[in-house]
Amino acid sequence: MNNENLDKILESIDLSSQPPLEEPARQYYFLKKCRVFVSEEEKRLGRKLTACVTTFGCQMNARDSEKLSGILEQAGYQLTDSEEADFDIYNTCTVRDNADQRVYGRLGHLNGLKKKNPHMKIALCGCMMQEPGTIEKIRKSYRFVDLIFGTHNIYKFAELLASSWEQQGMIVDIWQNTDKIVEDLPVERKYSFKSGINIMFGCNNFCSYCIVPYVRGRERSRSPKDIIKEIENLVADGVVEIMLLGQNVNSFGKNLEEPMSFAGLLREVEKIDGLQRIRFMTSHPKDLSDELIEVMAASSKICRHLHLPLQSGSTRILQAMNRRYTKEQYLELVDKIRIAMPDIALTTDIIVGFPGETPEDVDETIDVIKKVQFDNAFTFIYSKRTGTPAAAMENQVSEEVVKEGFDRVLRTVQETARERVRLLSGLTMEVLVEERNDQDSTLVTGRLSNNTLVHFPGDASLIGRIVPVYLKEYKGFYFLGEMAGGEG
Ligand code: SAH
Ligand code: SF4
Ligand code: F3S
Repeated sequence: MNNENLDKILESIDLSSQPPLEEPARQYYFLKKCRVFVSEEEKRLGRKLTACVTTFGCQMNARDSEKLSGILEQAGYQLTDSEEADFDIYNTCTVRDNADQRVYGRLGHLNGLKKKNPHMKIALCGCMMQEPGTIEKIRKSYRFVDLIFGTHNIYKFAELLASSWEQQGMIVDIWQNTDKIVEDLPVERKYSFKSGINIMFGCNNFCSYCIVPYVRGRERSRSPKDIIKEIENLVADGVVEIMLLGQNVNSFGKNLEEPMSFAGLLREVEKIDGLQRIRFMTSHPKDLSDELIEVMAASSKICRHLHLPLQSGSTRILQAMNRRYTKEQYLELVDKIRIAMPDIALTTDIIVGFPGETPEDVDETIDVIKKVQFDNAFTFIYSKRTGTPAAAMENQVSEEVVKEGFDRVLRTVQETARERVRLLSGLTMEVLVEERNDQDSTLVTGRLSNNTLVHFPGDASLIGRIVPVYLKEYKGFYFLGEMAGGEG
């Protein structure tokens, strides 16, 4: 949906009539209402209203934040990165306890800002809000929060925003689950040239440590037709790289009326003219099909990168984690992938300190890291999430043992990744330029197809373009390069 079309739809809405019951028409109605509230307040204050969206957590949340930003912008707010705004919203994550703690810490700061600007509205949404106990805690200790909603009703944001203009006091709207997928709401992308696209929501895997299935609900796939239409519109709007998003993309399509495999979807996406790069996140090893490997190997658009969370290299721990593959099956899968695509980069997630994990189990994880030679790995200390089966396990590991294991895993990951990524030194490869370098404004930063970061001299005019870059110097996890072909 482009802005002109939306403006036309909003113009035709009569606010003196009852709000429609069907979606997304109902949200358009409330969006128009928000526009009225915002413009009245603008007149009163003699300035524009600002809004700041802060994202915690994964790519899925980042995409949701683009949806929140789309509504806020269409409601008339000016988006800003500063929390000294008229509307502040935290889109929260609860995958590990430290994610929760960061939100509580920063809420204290928002309270200080609100004391200076009492008109300020503070909203919270996202995964943390779906957890039992969170709402009670906020009602008790963070009473200055104006609006709280969850992951299942984020499509209702325009309606909730309108309510926050109409009502005093804290508004709380949390749903336990949903089978609803609402299409065609406005989105404000962070990058003009790349975008995430939800292909499915929720997760059915119930890995025993993980809170995500409880806070994101059951697996629901979007219709391939809607996905393709969205990507075509994005490409028409200048997007060259997309990332298909789901907690377990390999089980895409199973619950559709006309089932379609993830590999089948990729084949369709590949056909879209003008689209240059296709990425996806995340692949569960247990569901990764031969068909997917075939489609990837034959594709000229699917990036040479696969994020394949290992979690543990110990079959015993994997079983307790309910991951449904063994160490050997994981290694066989990696072999199959590398035979089909020798240049593919593999990255992973690892958890250290799962209940019952011994130093010998950590040795198994280290063995897998050495055998696979990941290009990068995110290593996490196990965090106990109330309500998950692992939280009730009695053999929780002591902090000291966890730390020892964590340090060993981290060291191995860093050493092997360095060796592996270094192999690209001296090659010239295509880079999609993403932004100016934060630290050095004479440099721009981009990514190889295999997701490795490259910094090289260049200016903002290169952003969004795919250019050949000579990988001159490996700096440990990234390259310093030079644009090839005399263009730089
Ligand atoms: N759906 C994705 C993962 C989403 S969560 C997948 O299955 O691959 C991202 C990562 O957070 C997980 O891969 C896992 O390594 C980590 N994680 C999840 N729950 C955790 C917990 N309780 N403690 C520590 N790390 C956790
Ligand atoms: Fe969590 Fe497992 Fe689902 Fe990933 S697949 S979101 S780790 S339950
Ligand atoms: Fe966090 Fe929710 Fe993503 S818990 S990792 S933001 S799905």
